[in-house]
Amino acid sequence: MRKKVTTQEGEFPRLSLRDKVTLLRGSINTAHFKAHARPMLYGRCGDDPEAVNDLLLETLHTNAGKTKLISPLFKPPKQLIIKINGEHVLPLGTAAGMDKNGKALEAFGNLFGFQEPGTVVIEPRLGNPRVRVTTLKDSIDLFNAPGFPSKGLDYFLKNISEYRRKGGRAIIYVSICGLPSEGRATANAMKEMEVLITTLRTYVDGFVWNPFSPNTKALEKLRTAATFYETGRLMDELAPGKLKMVKIGPYDETPAELKKTLILINAFFEGGGQGVVTTNTYPFSKEMLPESIREKWGYPTAGRSGTFLTDYMLRSINDIRNAFRDSVLIFGTGGISDGITAYKAFKAGANALEGYTPYVSYGPGLVRNIMDGLQTEMDRDGIKNLAHLQKLARR
Ligand SMILES: Cc1cc2nc3c(=O)[nH]c(=O)nc-3n(C[C@H](O)[C@H](O)[C@H](O)COP(=O)(O)O)c2cc1C
Repeated sequence: MRKKVTTQEGEFPRLSLRDKVTLLRGSINTAHFKAHARPMLYGRCGDDPEAVNDLLLETLHTNAGKTKLISPLFKPPKQLIIKINGEHVLPLGTAAGMDKNGKALEAFGNLFGFQEPGTVVIEPRLGNPRVRVTTLKDSIDLFNAPGFPSKGLDYFLKNISEYRRKGGRAIIYVSICGLPSEGRATANAMKEMEVLITTLRTYVDGFVWNPFSPNTKALEKLRTAATFYETGRLMDELAPGKLKMVKIGPYDETPAELKKTLILINAFFEGGGQGVVTTNTYPFSKEMLPESIREKWGYPTAGRSGTFLTDYMLRSINDIRNAFRDSVLIFGTGGISDGITAYKAFKAGANALEGYTPYVSYGPGLVRNIMDGLQTEMDRDGIKNLAHLQKLARR
């Protein structure tokens, strides 16, 4: 039986020196990550993708200094730097869920253009019993039903305040959500949002409100125009100058679904919100799951992430850009695993892109591949820089 390491965060499989070298090489080279680091990590973690992510976060946390050493390899060319809310940024970041509790802020700050830790909620929540994230053999997509686990606001506050105290300057847009309660659903959620925003506002560059987690039924109560308006207003009032975004879920390609989504987004903007992150995972009922997963899946639903979402993401970027023209910021997320897909998303109107699932399969070196691929696509089309591409998309 392989030895475990016990830390304040829990128990993790002990990695040998050889494993660590494999991981370091894989962090720079996506082919090496997929061929060697990923199978090694899955082997050590009993094929549980969530345990793999936890082990990666733990390793990144304890080796943050090493990520600093490799960070020059991740330095973006200036053609890919754009302005978001007054800050110059490489618009390739982490998506929510990947670092729910802000454990790898320093390491991710060395590798990504920005990060979206969370979703942070006030009280610690265990979420559903494991196994609650699984994958298919021949695909990078993940199926998940975590049930909104979080170590809570105090824990996240400790991590982010410590990171800033040590001089950490990464751009951080934290994902947050106030939870509805029985009886006082919206009022309670708003009260919690107030606490989350006022507690974290000095440490972050912006907020992403996430009312669309597909496996948390109570959040459905928040998906009304009145609540979207009120949340935009609250964010604007309590966090002036900070980026204010809402995360939405994927919608099917029907006029009614589109209308419903645009009404919510419009209400958020009218309240004072600035942008949208699209898209959260696609909710599958258990009967719709691929057979190999259905047999062992213990939950009535699962959210699917990864390449399955790419078309939903591209369509919604296009829809939102067409509906609101130049007045909104749009961040895309959904299986962005190469420069060609990233290019399509920017061409459809995205301001920035985020990822989770592709990074679990290819490692952080994917940031470099996406940068290189984007550059190739832009050169081919005679586009001088990303800001120019974004301008063309907004016409
Ligand atoms: C295991 C798992 C947990 C997630 N948790 C969150 C979360 O806490 N908050 C959130 O807004 N999105 C969450 N997401 C959704 C991702 O942020 C992202 O929107 C989605 O996975 C699509 O992007 P990807 O294909 O790059 O993963 C989660 C996704 C996965 C796979």
